[in-house]
Amino acid sequence: MMPRPDIQPPSSAAVARACDLLRAGDLVAFPTETVYGLGADATSDHAISALFAAKGRPEFNPLIVHVADAAAAAEVASFDARATLLASAFWAGPLTLVVPRLPGSPLSSLVSAGLETVGVRVPGHPVARALLKAVGRPIAAASANRSGGVSPTAPMHVGESLGERVAMILAGGRCPIGIESTVLDASRDRLVLLRPGSVSVGEIESVAGPVEVPDRDPERPQSPGQLSRHYAPSIPVRLNATSVGSDEALLAFGPDGLIRGGVARVNLSPQGDLYEAANNLFAMLRGLDKPGHASIAVMTIPAQGIGIAINDRLRRAATAP
Ligand code: TXA
Ligand code: MG
Repeated sequence: MMPRPDIQPPSSAAVARACDLLRAGDLVAFPTETVYGLGADATSDHAISALFAAKGRPEFNPLIVHVADAAAAAEVASFDARATLLASAFWAGPLTLVVPRLPGSPLSSLVSAGLETVGVRVPGHPVARALLKAVGRPIAAASANRSGGVSPTAPMHVGESLGERVAMILAGGRCPIGIESTVLDASRDRLVLLRPGSVSVGEIESVAGPVEVPDRDPERPQSPGQLSRHYAPSIPVRLNATSVGSDEALLAFGPDGLIRGGVARVNLSPQGDLYEAANNLFAMLRGLDKPGHASIAVMTIPAQGIGIAINDRLRRAATAP
């Protein structure tokens, strides 16, 4: 039996120990501004295989490489003028750029699942930045949950989801954004949105021109990670609820969130603030995911700004297995 995960406040000693573990090919969870990441040495086939195994993740779904700064990003991938512009506008921050792998890059080919591109990001969270700086090599990190499950926004969630599969959890409190990074394909002629996040299409367009937003055809995912069912609790999720069954739990939104009925209820944002709702989304879905609840009824969330990302996650949480 492997030991239980070691949850550590992010002291400099804990960061140093996390670096030792990562260099030895072990898995370390760490906070980012979006969600907790499960990190592995991106240059090691062995470590990357262990990451896929710990998540139960299909090997065709590539990982995001996390680096300390744009200079470190340029050692693993190739950035044209447009990608450089995007990186300088949004890094450090919640934007992942899918760009061509650099020929002869030190990355394990497993990281990008055999693709010629790689997703790269410079996270803005101080603990993530301290870790990446100290470790001095690219770290592949996926959301620190079992594949298909709800992303973790607090250290406890990582422990619940991965248990002894993670050697150490660097605990940095709750993630300030709470929803995963925007993923943008910047490897082709036209920019293509692969996953909505808190960096909006409008913000990207103001820096780098038009962005294509593909119609979500679940039969033809653009990104290997766009599997239709994802972010899913173990019980069914029902969207656009205007009433609640007596055996259902309610995930409400806004001041009118007081529909009668249900066995449990929480409100993503009583004031109707979409940023607050994004920040609460995954933790509240987890909280309502109880065997005693028949399903989770979710009220309508406006599809504006970060609400687009919230609706993307909810739609996939609600997709039947
Ligand atoms: O906010 C985030 O991005 C978090 C934190 C930990 O950084 N990470 C995260 O990783 O959400 P993950 O593995 O749960 O999601 C990565 C997404 C997947 O949808 C994957 O398919 C896509 O990024 N992706 C990664 N590399 C890609 C590539 N080369 N081409 C297309 N999509 C890619
Ligand atoms: Mg994920």
